[in-house]
Amino acid sequence: MTAAPVIAIDGPSASGKGTIARRVADELSFHYLESGALYRLIALVSLRDRMRAEKALAEVAERMAVDFVGEQIFLSNQDVTLDVRSEEVSRRASEVAKIPEVRKRLLKRQRAFRRPPGLVADGRDMGTVVFPDATLKLFLTASPEVRAERRYKQLIDKGIPANLRSLSRDLAERDARDRNRAVAPLVPAPDSQVLDSSALSIDAVAELIVRWYRERTGGLR
Ligand code: CDP
Repeated sequence: MTAAPVIAIDGPSASGKGTIARRVADELSFHYLESGALYRLIALVSLRDRMRAEKALAEVAERMAVDFVGEQIFLSNQDVTLDVRSEEVSRRASEVAKIPEVRKRLLKRQRAFRRPPGLVADGRDMGTVVFPDATLKLFLTASPEVRAERRYKQLIDKGIPANLRSLSRDLAERDARDRNRAVAPLVPAPDSQVLDSSALSIDAVAELIVRWYRERTGGLR
């Protein structure tokens, strides 16, 4: 049996990956994996339990009880949807994401999301490490100003307090950490299509991706 198709969407923080990936998954009736949420959940536990030891965090990566229900995220049956979006958690997420053993333990978990009829996965290393055989790979970028504004709006809309200046600084720091780390750094896969969404609406980008996917698979889906 051939494995279910995967659309991998990678890119820096607040490039619109999440919203676009969800939209594409809906359009194709595919499953959706928000891989960043897994790193955010480990970060949440790390902050809550004051846990920094790499070995302990790797255990959390393997054992944590996670449920994704629509847009909601549950950790041990507790709704943590809003908690994982704070800037404090974002910052710690990019720190725990540097730990090789954490990434290794998350591999199997992420690959388990690949089920028929297909999967849209977003993150930093979906096309390079987790699903190197993805049918379509996108690397989504946007200018730092556009990304900071998008993230600001997203947080305010969710009722989470935010400050544009500190947000821009945090995004820049986090991107540098993601790009320069030794394992699974944020780089486009050689066979990915790089797409700058600064001047495009989320809808336009999602439509484009669906079209490319359909063209690539001969219009079968
Ligand atoms: O929403 P945003 O794009 O800001 O971040 P995210 O996708 O939720 O990811 C949070 C952090 O997790 C990132 O800064 C990365 O350090 C890490 N991450 C990763 O290393 N690999 C992934 N596949 C996804 C996220």
